[in-house]
Amino acid sequence: MVQLEHVTKEFDEANVVDDINLDIRAGEFLTLLGPSGCGKTTTLRMIAGFEKPTSGKILLNGKQVDDMEPYKREVNTVFQSYSLFPHMNVYDNVAFGLKMKKVGKDEIRERVTKALKLVQLEEYGNRKPKQLSGGQQQRIAIARAIVNNPKVLLLDEPLGALDLKLRKQMQLELKHLQQTLGITFIYVTHDQEEALTMSDRIVVMNKGKIEQIGLPREIYENPTTRFVADFIGQTNIIEGTVTAINGDKATMEFSGQTIEIPNSQNVALNEEAFISVRPEKMKASAVPFEGTINLKGTFKERIYVGSVTKIVVTMPNGKELTIHESHDNIEELTNTNDVYVSWNPKNTVVLKK
Ligand SMILES: Nc1ncnc2c1ncn2[C@@H]1O[C@H](COP(=O)(O)OP(=O)(O)OP(=O)(O)O)[C@@H](O)[C@H]1O
Ligand SMILES: [Mg+2]
Repeated sequence: MVQLEHVTKEFDEANVVDDINLDIRAGEFLTLLGPSGCGKTTTLRMIAGFEKPTSGKILLNGKQVDDMEPYKREVNTVFQSYSLFPHMNVYDNVAFGLKMKKVGKDEIRERVTKALKLVQLEEYGNRKPKQLSGGQQQRIAIARAIVNNPKVLLLDEPLGALDLKLRKQMQLELKHLQQTLGITFIYVTHDQEEALTMSDRIVVMNKGKIEQIGLPREIYENPTTRFVADFIGQTNIIEGTVTAINGDKATMEFSGQTIEIPNSQNVALNEEAFISVRPEKMKASAVPFEGTINLKGTFKERIYVGSVTKIVVTMPNGKELTIHESHDNIEELTNTNDVYVSWNPKNTVVLKK
């Protein structure tokens, strides 16, 4: 439905979007995820036609659109600030685009009613935007976009202004709406949990480049780069030297101890290797666990964060490892204890160097 081929955008001699290739399927919910300034909005604006790529091609439904005006593309955008017209009521806000296109009165009524129904605000047509909550205004902004029957809906941090609880509720509502309508959604966020919750696929961006594309589970369980491992959720990145390779396994030396890691193209004898292990895959214990990896360190601190308790253990070389334990699983560990950090080797992810 949407194809980006070697798309680059240069501002002030810097490539803010740098040679991006992307194929987005019809009906897909695809999320661009990355830190502030990595080029998400610029990518979206190029798809919408508000910016022109410096080089590369954009195709919508197989047709190259570089010279097509934004309003001619079958694409609608929902911005972070809802940009509703304050002096118009809800109905007129949603109907505005259709009136501009000179759609017939009866058809406008039908389509606006349907769009308001989809966002569950059919009773609110007569209200002004300022008489609505933030979440309701956001839903109106979405109704205003879907009333045009776009093939593709671009959403730039549409839930950014909402409080956490409402945001989580709207995430599920939006996801269900997308499934109902079967429209392709290209969604921008810098909230990794939001991306994991809503997306069919996630594109992780960093400094204008794509770091990794994958299913939410792949991105979380099998990050390929340090950036992705670090950006998505919390993780322990452990750096060591490969001292032996034996078939599909290798041995890495770290802080005077050894860790067995999977052998891969990112592992080479006598070279540095980087692994990522999620805090919830680790255990902290006063005695080593048999049959798993064990690293001996000293207890530093315990932090209660509600859903889990975080335990910080300091390794002999000063590196701190963070473990997330569920509450019914915690041993008494004090700062006089040696603490063993252990995990199942299958939870070790080797990262690109
Ligand atoms: N019109 C412009 N002129 C010059 N530089 C720009 C312009 N628009 C964006 N940039 C720069 O391009 C880079 C990417 O901006 P962009 O808005 O795409 O980031 P983003 O990933 O959407 O970030 P955020 O999460 O903060 O919204 C930034 O460094 C920004 O300063
Ligand atoms: Mg942005």
